[in-house]
Amino acid sequence: MSKHKIISASRSGIDCDYTIDITSEESIRALYKQVGAFDAVVNAVGFCEYANFVEMTEEQWLTTILNKMMGQINLVRIGQEYIADNGSFTLISGIFNVKPIPLSIADATTSGAIDTFVKCVAYEMPRGIRVNAINPTVLEEAWEVYGDMMPGFQPVPGRLVGKAFERSVDGFLTGQVLFVDA
Ligand SMILES: NC(=O)c1ccc[n+]([C@@H]2O[C@H](COP(=O)([O-])OP(=O)(O)OC[C@H]3O[C@@H](n4cnc5c(N)ncnc54)[C@H](OP(=O)(O)O)[C@@H]3O)[C@@H](O)[C@H]2O)c1
Repeated sequence: MSKHKIISASRSGIDCDYTIDITSEESIRALYKQVGAFDAVVNAVGFCEYANFVEMTEEQWLTTILNKMMGQINLVRIGQEYIADNGSFTLISGIFNVKPIPLSIADATTSGAIDTFVKCVAYEMPRGIRVNAINPTVLEEAWEVYGDMMPGFQPVPGRLVGKAFERSVDGFLTGQVLFVDA
């Protein structure tokens, strides 16, 4: 994506241009207002709680829904007011909604919601705006954290996942889930 001017943001703002909390509508709107004109939004954050279904509390469910699901939906819902004509939103889901593992039920359920969201909302987007999701398996860079939970999975390099984001931003696809699996 070197041909683009990239503006970065995270919750802490460390190594980024701006701060944002995707669980806060005010924070999302404040960022869009500060940034000014932009053509694409790429989101790669969405905190999830991990627990067995019988042990997961409502609070853990709501935390995951607020972060991974509503946080991303709000990036699109509010962002469509500000993004340029023919702009694009690219969200993140994750492989557990098609290849579930123990402890992943909240991640799997909200990843499925994001995949469904992009497929359906694409029909409603104004001004030629596109919306896609990247659905990767575990990244090589995260294997140390998740590997023990994921026997039989093959991690993929983050560089490949980046390529899927690039296809979404620089291509013409909309309403698509781009899987990156090994
Ligand atoms: N890692 C993988 O292999 C993998 C594979 C498939 C899907 N995914 C999905 O990708 C997403 C990110 O996973 P990850 O492993 O990269 O997580 P991570 O390492 O914990 O990354 C978290 C990043 O998200 C930012 N962040 C967290 N909550 C935020 C919020 N409310 N508002 C704004 N920024 C926030 C953090 O910013 P600060 O550091 O500034 O707090 C940090 O930069 C998750 O939804 C995950 O399910 C990950």
